Amino acid sequence: MTIAPQDKDLLWFLAEGTAGTVGEEFFQRLVEHTALAFRADVAFVAEIVPEDREYARFLACWEGGRLAPSMEYCLEGTPCAEVSESDLVSYPVGVRERFPADDMVIEMGLDGYLAVPLRGFDGNHLGHLGVLSKTPLYPDEEKLAALRIFAARAAAELEGRRHEARLRSLVDEQAALRRVATLVAAEAPQQEVLDAVVHEVAELLRTDTAGLLRLDGDQVTIVSGKSSDEDAPVPVGLTAHIDRFSATKDALLGGRPARSDAARLGSDERTPELRRLALQSAVAAPITVAGRVWGAIAIARTTQEPMPPTTETRLGDFAELAAQAISNAEAREQLAASRARIVQAGDQERRRIERNLHDGAQQRLVALALSLRMAQTALADDPRATDLLSQASGELQLTLEELRELARGIHPAVLSDRGLAAAVEALAGRCAVPVDLDLPQERLAEQVEATAYYLVAESLTNVAKYAQATEASVSVRREGDRLHVEVRDDGVGGADIEAGTGLRGLSDRVEALHGTLRIESPAGAGTRVAASIPLAA
Ligand SMILES: Nc1ncnc2c1ncn2[C@@H]1O[C@H](COP(=O)(O)OP(=O)(O)OP(=O)(O)O)[C@@H](O)[C@H]1O
Ligand SMILES: [Mg+2]
Repeated sequence: MTIAPQDKDLLWFLAEGTAGTVGEEFFQRLVEHTALAFRADVAFVAEIVPEDREYARFLACWEGGRLAPSMEYCLEGTPCAEVSESDLVSYPVGVRERFPADDMVIEMGLDGYLAVPLRGFDGNHLGHLGVLSKTPLYPDEEKLAALRIFAARAAAELEGRRHEARLRSLVDEQAALRRVATLVAAEAPQQEVLDAVVHEVAELLRTDTAGLLRLDGDQVTIVSGKSSDEDAPVPVGLTAHIDRFSATKDALLGGRPARSDAARLGSDERTPELRRLALQSAVAAPITVAGRVWGAIAIARTTQEPMPPTTETRLGDFAELAAQAISNAEAREQLAASRARIVQAGDQERRRIERNLHDGAQQRLVALALSLRMAQTALADDPRATDLLSQASGELQLTLEELRELARGIHPAVLSDRGLAAAVEALAGRCAVPVDLDLPQERLAEQVEATAYYLVAESLTNVAKYAQATEASVSVRREGDRLHVEVRDDGVGGADIEAGTGLRGLSDRVEALHGTLRIESPAGAGTRVAASIPLAA
């Protein structure tokens, strides 16, 4: 058992009692030994809550012979409220009468109070070290000096602890921002990045819920969300008028971070789905993309504990990253869409030319051929005219064939009329080497059929021109929501996308539909051109 010291041994007793301890343990040993040294019923070391200086919380409290659980209390109405103003607060007797609102004093029937402040290196009031006793508590110089020395030691401990926490949170924040930035740089899908932002923010800022909200006119949609309570999920997908939101509304309209309190968060103005989350405090920051407010990132707590004043700035950093991800993704989307439009416009133009040739020039040539035949009949008696006419007729036939061939190259009517399988069969039929076919009979979206067709057409033309192959194969297979198109040959290999315009054009076409193209063509080992194209292009 630890024996209480004589007064002259007090400093030694406290030093011995706390020797070699730091942090939590130091505070606990300090209050225990202070209580013993002062023969007090209560000894405590408390810090002023940085986010709300009206409150203090025990770092450690020794009460009735043992450590009491840590708790937070309102300073008003307690003797502790006076500590910040002075270097010493001492009520040797009568504390009960003076502070009837102090629960602990009343409940324990305490009479004497003595406390000194904990001050930071800049003189800032951090908290206090004090003792309370049921019997009168007259301080002597010796005791006071000891108390002051250990208050200074406790202040240093507390500041160290706060610095460490700040440093740790800075490191965590940098790591979280870096993880999201890596996703942005890797051009991960937009939704994945948004979900990651929400996840990191919720973890880092220790909130109960976090969400990303998109603004469209005066409507707000929750596009991503995370809740720590499985039974109260964030209603992702919910769309409501901007007036139905609180902090988010202020952030969107004001263009800067905003806060909201329990009264507004619980008000009838809010959507019932959001009210159900029982949020007590919220902070939102706007996300600005290309000079326009795109939406907001919001976090909220379901507990009374207020969010620290740094929350706005920290949330703002994540809002900027989200903005970066969104603008990257939108730029990519726009690029893909414009490529798709160009390819589609080209296909339409080809179809129009094919139709014009078919309905115009081709029909006129057919009519001319008929006229020639009639002239031949009419001039049957003139052998020279018959000769000339039959020669002209032959040339006309060739022109017509050439024109048909040309029209087919521009856009095969069979593709529009009878679909991919028929069109590819026709291509294979004209190929210089035998082609093994594996084709689906179903019709697919026009753009998908056209892209698959041009891939096969270009690849088989290349086979004939360069491959010196003995055989080739074409396979078109549907797997789930994608179409796999593959053309192989057993020729010399060496296909190079940089060498001409054919393969490059295929790659553009396939990518315009968000598909992927692979070309494998090692020297001497044949060529494989393969594409995977989403069907819902
Ligand atoms: N199946 C193949 N076997 C061997 N070499 C090939 C094959 N396909 C393409 N190549 C080589 O790759 C090059 C690029 O092909 P690509 O189709 O892009 O252009 P191109 O056929 O030369 O010209 P374009 O298609 O614009 O008329 C070709 O010039 C050829 O040397
Ligand atoms: Mg080519």
